[in-house]
Amino acid sequence: MKDFTLFAGTANPELAARTAGELGMPLGECAIERFPDGEISVRLLETVRRREVFIMQPIAPPVNERLVELLIFTDACRRAAAGRITAIVPYLGYARSDKRHGRREAITASMLADLFKAVGIDHVVTVDLHAPQIEGFFHIPVDSLTAVPTLCKAVHGQLPEGVVVVAPDAGAVRMATEYAHRLGTSVIVLHKRRESGTSTRVTRLVGDVRDRACLIVDDMISTGGTIAESIEVLLQAGALPEITILATHGLMLKGARDKLSHSSVRNVFITDTILLTEKDWSQLHVISVAPLIAAALKRLMGDGSISDLF
Ligand code: R5P
Repeated sequence: MKDFTLFAGTANPELAARTAGELGMPLGECAIERFPDGEISVRLLETVRRREVFIMQPIAPPVNERLVELLIFTDACRRAAAGRITAIVPYLGYARSDKRHGRREAITASMLADLFKAVGIDHVVTVDLHAPQIEGFFHIPVDSLTAVPTLCKAVHGQLPEGVVVVAPDAGAVRMATEYAHRLGTSVIVLHKRRESGTSTRVTRLVGDVRDRACLIVDDMISTGGTIAESIEVLLQAGALPEITILATHGLMLKGARDKLSHSSVRNVFITDTILLTEKDWSQLHVISVAPLIAAALKRLMGDGSISDLF
């Protein structure tokens, strides 16, 4: 494996430390400070001249802060003559806006790709992109890892007999199909209409959930609205009150925990792509993606294949 330096931004230092631990190396030294007016300052405390540099920074809430910090971090590395700069963005915020619904809207996922390129990011590593086609906005390599095998292993043996996988909206069907395939079961699809940033409505259920336990899978839980609405619809359709929830990115915004603490919910599984502030929630299981990211970095630095990981 070639030599490289892994730096941690402030968004998820725990995941960065776990990843460095998996690789048996220390994190790069840097100083990240906030000026009284809110501006961010990044200083590298070690040389990166001609080195391969990895910066770990999910664009998680507060997303604008995290994004700007990543851009500033990259600028510091570029000006310090780093050889190649890879942004490890386990959760790519701003990716949900990947098309225009009306005539006068931004496509933030595309804008993000332009910003990354402009500051000098050469390569992106991410986990479970909101939609695979987002990769097409980038003109630099993007390695989108998936936490599906990691989460499947975690739920294996913890699911009730006869469980079905539920996609809470059309966008989740691909991921749900992958889970169902790995778990040897079938997929139920809900059709969701987003009425606002905080409210959604399920308009249709495709499949039969009568007397079945359900595993609802999604790429992320933000306000918890999508999952809460799905639970109601599944129970009304006759599903057993034995529901497991699984998502790669647990943003868990204010109120999400209350929405998911439904009497029919047995367990909630998420990964640590986003630093979690929720403590003492016995149903919540956080599975680390550090081994997955570390394995990917080993392959990138040894010129190995990433697809072999899955
Ligand atoms: C939407 O397309 C996503 O896949 C998630 O379903 C959604 O972002 C979750 O958000 P919330 O928890 O606020 O409903």
